[in-house]
Amino acid sequence: MIGQAKRLSELLSYETKKNTASNKTIAVTSGKGGTGKSFFILNLAYLLSSVGKRVLLIDMDSNLANIDVMLNITSEKTISDFLQNRVLLKELPTNIRPNLDVIFGDSGRLSLPEKRAEIIDYFVASLEKFENNYDKILIDTGAGVQWETLYLLSKIDFIALIINPDPTSVMDGYALTKLLLNEYGKKEIGVVVNKCDNKGEGETSFKNINTATTHFLKTSLKYLGTINYDNDVYRSIKEQVIFSEEYPGSELVNQIKNIACNSLLNKSKVI
Ligand SMILES: Nc1ncnc2c1ncn2[C@@H]1O[C@H](COP(=O)(O)OP(=O)(O)O)[C@@H](O)[C@H]1O
Ligand SMILES: [Mg+2]
Repeated sequence: MIGQAKRLSELLSYETKKNTASNKTIAVTSGKGGTGKSFFILNLAYLLSSVGKRVLLIDMDSNLANIDVMLNITSEKTISDFLQNRVLLKELPTNIRPNLDVIFGDSGRLSLPEKRAEIIDYFVASLEKFENNYDKILIDTGAGVQWETLYLLSKIDFIALIINPDPTSVMDGYALTKLLLNEYGKKEIGVVVNKCDNKGEGETSFKNINTATTHFLKTSLKYLGTINYDNDVYRSIKEQVIFSEEYPGSELVNQIKNIACNSLLNKSKVI
């Protein structure tokens, strides 16, 4: 167990000035599971690290953590050890590629212990220390409207909502957006449409969710981009390899690069 004093001194040792670079911390979310959050964030993390950005990827999906499985890595310590007050956050990153560290998650943990808000606040405060060690901190989260996920998202710089082009996914995404805007004080949410037949299908789905959001919630969403459906994604997950590493020249990788450059880094060409 870590005592209150040690926790406090960890917090106080952090550089007090928070790095204000925009969108330093990005979290993915979705209304329902299986839209491709983990696939997208892992590949975004890899691509950014491959061009020299220092990236920390954190698996915060408390029910179905799977970045470790996607990478075929067995992690000794997970985010659960931090949430259960057994280790400090800085003890958790595992380096898996040049410039790419991962904090693995823990499947099957249904909820946080008591004082959930306090623990998430402590997690977010601990992240501020990392902001000086990394260029980007990327967070994978669970799908749906669990309180702890929504509360965490409310504290993160930028949220990327991952939807699929089918109407149910768009509706689920809208329901989650409504909660985040109305109940959790978010101002800006970006949207990635994954598993599309083509760019046009992604743009139409974005238009559908954005029309509803603009009309009913008086807030426009930010279009981040479209990613096509590709059977090689399933293959890469089955083979436990990183898609972008395995298929560097593929259209999907270019689409994720475009999202990274145009939308998330506001640069015309980084990767
Ligand atoms: N662009 C894509 N094309 C084809 N299959 C995809 C694509 N993105 C994700 N998938 C598949 O969808 C499944 C769910 O993806 P995952 O990233 O685990 O979703 P989530 O993290 O949102 O639950 C995976 O089995 C993966 O193979
Ligand atoms: Mg996932």
